[in-house]
Amino acid sequence: MPATRCPALRRGPGPGARPKEPTWKRRTVIQLLGISALAIAGASACSSTASSGGAAPSRSTSASSGSAAVKIPLTDIPVGGGVIRDAEKIVATQATAGQYKAFSAVCQHQGCTVGSIEGQKIVCPCHGSAYSIVDGSVVNGPTTRPLIAKSSSVEGSDLVVS
Ligand code: FES
Repeated sequence: MPATRCPALRRGPGPGARPKEPTWKRRTVIQLLGISALAIAGASACSSTASSGGAAPSRSTSASSGSAAVKIPLTDIPVGGGVIRDAEKIVATQATAGQYKAFSAVCQHQGCTVGSIEGQKIVCPCHGSAYSIVDGSVVNGPTTRPLIAKSSSVEGSDLVVS
């Protein structure tokens, strides 16, 4: 009996036999997807642990953070003027006694930080635009847009700007 007729001795697919599907590829892909899902779940668990204030170091809520509230002592904001906080890019003003306002210190012309408060004007050093300390409106161009107002409130002895 020739060896090729015995199915147990055949080494390859016979003539007309369909090639086997490479199922290992599908299995490998499924395994990799599972590992990826576990990795993502693990990362999420880690981040939620960190934000819940466990043993992870806490983030400062100082003014350098973009969305953190900034406290400016009221004594730093003169009546009829204001103060520019470069680090936080905030201008706080007090046009008349007790009338506190806060604005972004980013000039609406080309994005410089405003540099000084001269009388009732907030002045940008780059091209000379000036804004009102009362409401941030344009006093002098070239800018055509007012300073962006920020939310603020007096809390104790501070103006809290958010
Ligand atoms: S960027 Fe302020 S005047 Fe141009």
